[in-house]
Amino acid sequence: MEWIFLTSLMLLVGHIVWYSWRYGITPTPTGCKVKKALFEILPPSLRGNIIELGSGWGTLAFALAHYFPACQVWAYEISPIPYFVSRCIQKWKHAPHLHFSRQDFFQVSLHNASLVVCYLYPGAMQRLKTKFEQELAPGTYVLSHTFAIPGWMPIHCVKASDLYQTPIYLYQI
Ligand SMILES: C[S@@+](CC[C@H](N)C(=O)[O-])C[C@H]1O[C@@H](n2cnc3c(N)ncnc32)[C@H](O)[C@@H]1O
Repeated sequence: MEWIFLTSLMLLVGHIVWYSWRYGITPTPTGCKVKKALFEILPPSLRGNIIELGSGWGTLAFALAHYFPACQVWAYEISPIPYFVSRCIQKWKHAPHLHFSRQDFFQVSLHNASLVVCYLYPGAMQRLKTKFEQELAPGTYVLSHTFAIPGWMPIHCVKASDLYQTPIYLYQI
């Protein structure tokens, strides 16, 4: 019995590790202090579509949906296990305006976004920069924490009060 449990656990962990290696980042959730700091710089009057690129376990997506009930939140995640967990959590939360999708966000159109949110890694920020410049409409906000968009000037840059003093960058097209 014990070995069935251990084998299943190893398979689950191995699956997450494989996707992390394949897509360049683990599904590390945004910490509470970073979340608090980022909501302080986001415009509270925001309307329209919020797109989260790489939603992991859904930690930040649920917070975005709670903070912006008048917006539609579209959360994209490629790794099946974190995606599945976030869908399960959604069954217990009332958030009809939050939509999870298991998709590579590089294949998703960003044309109708009001705000794009990401917590990724330097290589993705470099690739996304081109996509943002081609697809985002003037006025669209982009929020990234930990990693900046190379060559862009943020309209706000704050540091969270966590252990790493995580930098949070808010840009506007
Ligand atoms: C550091 S986690 C961030 C999780 C969540 N955004 C949060 O802040 O709590 C980054 C996530 O991006 C996902 N990811 C990386 N590249 C992706 C891609 N091309 N398409 C969809 N998801 C991707 C990873 O699987 C990982 O779960």
